Amino acid sequence: MSSQAPTQRITAPQIKARKGARPIVSLTAYHAAMAAVADCYCDFLLVGDSLGMVVYSMETTVGVTLELMVAHGKAVVKGSKKALVVVDMPFGTYEEGPEQAFRNAVHIMKETGCGALKLEGGSWLAPTVHFFVERGIPVMGHVGLTPQRIHTLGGFKIQGRERITAKTIETDALEIEAAGAFAILIEGVVENLAARLTRGLKVPTIGIGASGTCDGQILVMEDMLGLSKPVPKFVRKYAAMAEMIESAFKTYADDVKTRKFPGEMEMYR
Ligand code: KIV
Repeated sequence: MSSQAPTQRITAPQIKARKGARPIVSLTAYHAAMAAVADCYCDFLLVGDSLGMVVYSMETTVGVTLELMVAHGKAVVKGSKKALVVVDMPFGTYEEGPEQAFRNAVHIMKETGCGALKLEGGSWLAPTVHFFVERGIPVMGHVGLTPQRIHTLGGFKIQGRERITAKTIETDALEIEAAGAFAILIEGVVENLAARLTRGLKVPTIGIGASGTCDGQILVMEDMLGLSKPVPKFVRKYAAMAEMIESAFKTYADDVKTRKFPGEMEMYR
């Protein structure tokens, strides 16, 4: 047996217990190296299916596959030590019903070693969330703007402006909570709805484009680092990485062109 105690990761129940307490910090992560840097600042890292758009230049997240999520999930678990790693279930892998969903969920959990899964959907998804939680899989819900349903929503538009859609989103969140979700991500909803959901739910709300009223926040890492184009309006740019990387590439190209390069011995020292 190893004499070194493994570093304890944050767990889903610990995130749940943060309701109304210290704000929950999270970012998306798709690679081991970035996960390693973000790890000590984040309570959880989300391997979001936004990787389809951010990493693979897809137009929507609809084309993301289970195997892509597994590959990137493994990398993020390997790169991090402390944060809870949550992996998104991609479109088409959980909508048929609890059995199909559970089979695919077990595959992600076993292959990646992540600590929780995130599923997009409202009332219709509650039986699946309950099925997962009963069998030992922590679930983060995702309501409001649900990008996997972009073709029925009709675009990346703020949700909950009308009383009727706000009411549906509220019912969705309450039913996902009642089914056993440990937290609920709220994407792209108007501020008064986000505030009402945060007040009304017993589990933490994690906002993205949903105002500062939530119990925690998440951003797509590449957006806040200034690597994506275009960046959604609600995102504060915390760094100008595209410009920094471009300057590094330019210096490198200049070094190659002017033969200003270290010798072999120096390179392998
Ligand atoms: O896939 C993703 O990155 C998401 C965001 C809303 C955080 O779900």
